[in-house]
Amino acid sequence: MKTPYSFLALCISLCLLSCKETTSTSVVEDATSGAAQPMAASVEDRIGFPDFGFMESPETYQGRVFKLSDDFPYKNPGPDKDVEAILSIDFKTDWAAYMQAVKEYVFAGNASTDYENSFFLEDNKIRDWYHVPWQHWGPNGREGFHGLTQEGPVAAKMLAPTQTSTSHAYAVGFYNDLGGYAIGKVWNKPEPNYSFFEFDGFPDGTVVAKLLYVPLESNEVPYLENPVSWDAYIYKYDVTGVKTDTTRVKHPVNLIQMDIMVKDPRAISTGGWVFGTFVYNGALGNENRWNNLMPVGIMWGNDPTNNKSSYNPTPTETIINKTLTETIINDSKDLPAMHLGWASRLNGPVDNPYSSCMSCHSTAQYPVVSNILPMFNNPKVPIPEAGTDASSEWMRWFRNVPCETPFDKGKATSFDYSLQLVKSVQNYIEYASNNEKGLYSEEYWSNGHKIRRNALVSE
Ligand code: HEC
Repeated sequence: MKTPYSFLALCISLCLLSCKETTSTSVVEDATSGAAQPMAASVEDRIGFPDFGFMESPETYQGRVFKLSDDFPYKNPGPDKDVEAILSIDFKTDWAAYMQAVKEYVFAGNASTDYENSFFLEDNKIRDWYHVPWQHWGPNGREGFHGLTQEGPVAAKMLAPTQTSTSHAYAVGFYNDLGGYAIGKVWNKPEPNYSFFEFDGFPDGTVVAKLLYVPLESNEVPYLENPVSWDAYIYKYDVTGVKTDTTRVKHPVNLIQMDIMVKDPRAISTGGWVFGTFVYNGALGNENRWNNLMPVGIMWGNDPTNNKSSYNPTPTETIINKTLTETIINDSKDLPAMHLGWASRLNGPVDNPYSSCMSCHSTAQYPVVSNILPMFNNPKVPIPEAGTDASSEWMRWFRNVPCETPFDKGKATSFDYSLQLVKSVQNYIEYASNNEKGLYSEEYWSNGHKIRRNALVSE
């Protein structure tokens, strides 16, 4: 996790250069000549976090540069009429209409047929959307074309039987104004000053979306025909498959999945959030290719008592588990074969086949006491054999954890199902600990040490 410090400084200066208004003149040093030159710059109204961690050199790169949307609202804006419309659709009986309404809400002002220039949030004339800061840090930090972070691994045959290459997904997520208001409570200044330990959750009507891309193409994954492509600055090994190719390259990536999360008061008894995912199916042939995203399903709970194990990591068909009562999977014949999650709970094509949306997201807490996945936890909880009843240890990851409640009660602060918020705090503390040893003393936060300076003391 060692992004060179000088690179971070570059990011911060780039961030300053990308400020909205030009109101004052300051003097900056020209890095090439060493000469001081006057330059127009101003500080963003609120904060101004680094925009990205990886970028082509300014001499080589000609395209548009990603800009973090971090001018978070100070006041709770309350739900607008489109959010109220979403919250009036019954997500259980009318799940497809609910997903469609959220999709339209996310697309409005963001998704155009100028695909490369879509989802630059600053262009949106309909409503404001916000990014979570501090995703630029570390080896999988944001790239500077579209703000994509490197996500989980994509194993061979996970997406289609003809997929032989392995790779990683790349993704960017964003929150509506209600979500932005909550993010601003954690990130109210560049250094969080532990105010994040008082986080009290997202307001009802918070809508979050995340677009996921892969460098794979339709020759291996047939439903990626007619793709929505972006140029991205990604790891070479994700293109060549050669582990030692650890530099970054400019390479196209294709949209494969869109995730949504809605804080919906009607889901309060099962966690308070509704999760949904869409898969890209180019065979649908819509003229506006964004409309080729079709719903995979929806979930509002983890079915905590349903413990019979099954999984389908290299799918040739989608297996729907009719005994689940808190997941609904689309039974359309147009749906490409999906692996889904553990025992067919909801998961998207590039998600882990032994998990589920709400399983991973229920672990959103800081400090990170339990891993997002049971099989990577310490101690490790092995994947239960197919056909057997899962242990109670395994089912800890399939509880319906109430929103705003930590996964490990008494040991951490809940981030209310937001894993990006967790990652932002984790990244910041790690950065601060690396650079200013002892100041945040993160190295002593676990392994039985009781040092939690200015922070939570759990025992
Ligand atoms: C293996 C664990 C895992 C699974 C399974 C998973 N996610 Fe996530 N998700 C993450 C992590 C980690 C992040 C934060 C990092 C990032 O976005 O790059 C995240 C981020 C997100 C975000 C951005 C908001 C946020 O801050 O949390 C959304 C929206 C989202 N996921 C939705 C979903 C949906 C919908 C599903 C199921 C279809 C799903 N996720 C399944 C781990 C998971």
